[in-house]
Amino acid sequence: MIKNYIESNQQRFLDELFDLLRIPSVSADSRHKADVRKAAEYLKNKLIEAGVDKAELHETPGHPIVYAEKIVNPSLPTILVYGHYDVQPPDPLNLWESPPFEPVIKDGKIYARGSCDDKGQVYMHVKAFEAMMKLKTLTCNVKFMIEGEEEVGSENLENFVKANKEKLKSDIILISDTALISLEHPSITAGLRGLSYVEVEVTGPNRDLHSGVYGGAVANPINVLSKMIASLHDENGRVTIPGFYDKVAELSQAERDAINKAPFNLDNYKKELGIVEVQGEKGYTTLERTGIRPTLDVNGIWGGYTGEGAKTVLPSKAYAKISMRLVPNQNNQEITQLFTRHFLSIAPKSVQVKVTALHGGEAAVTPTDSDAFRAASAAFKEVFGKAPIPTRDGGSIPIVALFKKELGLDTVLMGFGFDSDAIHSPNEHYGVKNFLMGIETIVSFYKHYSKN
Ligand code: BES
Ligand code: MN
Ligand code: MN
Repeated sequence: MIKNYIESNQQRFLDELFDLLRIPSVSADSRHKADVRKAAEYLKNKLIEAGVDKAELHETPGHPIVYAEKIVNPSLPTILVYGHYDVQPPDPLNLWESPPFEPVIKDGKIYARGSCDDKGQVYMHVKAFEAMMKLKTLTCNVKFMIEGEEEVGSENLENFVKANKEKLKSDIILISDTALISLEHPSITAGLRGLSYVEVEVTGPNRDLHSGVYGGAVANPINVLSKMIASLHDENGRVTIPGFYDKVAELSQAERDAINKAPFNLDNYKKELGIVEVQGEKGYTTLERTGIRPTLDVNGIWGGYTGEGAKTVLPSKAYAKISMRLVPNQNNQEITQLFTRHFLSIAPKSVQVKVTALHGGEAAVTPTDSDAFRAASAAFKEVFGKAPIPTRDGGSIPIVALFKKELGLDTVLMGFGFDSDAIHSPNEHYGVKNFLMGIETIVSFYKHYSKN
């Protein structure tokens, strides 16, 4: 029985996950290129040990893609499991209470970079598969596609998908890389936001100047950039880029009501984040603001002197990285274009502005009336004792829309992290319970799905 199998093997499962978490597979940092490969090799070997027919590393110009499969019988349905083994950079390091690549369990939670996003969640799938092989309960085919570039835009995965449609042929995509409301209120993510990500460069004088000699007479690019950025929202919290909202899918009142029915405690939310008040687009709740409304945020801003003490300087350049979260029907290339045109148009003559698109992707909405979604619901009900609530997550997994477009496949987003797990932040963590219940829920999903 699956519960027994998980219980009697849980220490080994955790030990293995810890080994994976010890590998600093930071895809954005070229100094970690060899580590990223090491994580891919580790997963490949674990998949082989778990009983796949074959597992291979597919080389790309960037980091390798792990592909593996177990074909029980070609006439049975096939589940394609997607996940990523790369992680975000651990910075700022000094804010970690324990080193990011030395996993520890504290208060029932695994602390390490990637524990939740996404190594911990990927590894649930490997162990769920192992369990089904050992217990001989696997009654469908499985393909695994685990990439090492999700956190940097999945560029090479896109090519892999386009070039390997036959190999990836399956009936449904299964991903655990999203959030759960809580263990008491299980949920299934039914929508993700898209993304447009740009970098802007504002140039004033041809060199850094003495801020006393020239200050007041020559445009300061940091002052100018700050003003330009501030103008990108109006007093109602709406983005001021012309055309930005034109294609936004407006939800019906019934759909909005459904979103707001999800359990959400604003006081706890504020308390957990250490803020006194939330903010955002007027007329929308916090769940709507993160789930179904587009946004614009500065992710980083720099320029001038930021070292110790004071240096009087009027800098030549200022920079910012800006992301826009998109919702269904907004096209990321079009939004990047609208941004660029607008941003250039609001620049005063005293500076020069350059906008570079970094990456992007489309939003995704997954069907909630499919056999796969029903199987996922049944699985949560079985393991958590409660029917899951469909939710819209604010994060992005751009590859979900690509799977639909290129492979014609729908995705089930069965995530087991919490919003409060500090993914991308210092002290990322993942509940041991989430990990173990996740394995059980995945096994249950296979069972319910293969009944169809
Ligand atoms: N797993 C996250 C996305 C996510 C987090 C979805 C929480 C739902 C809830 C993923 O690894 C991620 O971080 N995606 C990036 C986008 C990517 C193109 C870099 C993101 O959302 O910023
Ligand atoms: Mn992720
Ligand atoms: Mn991530």
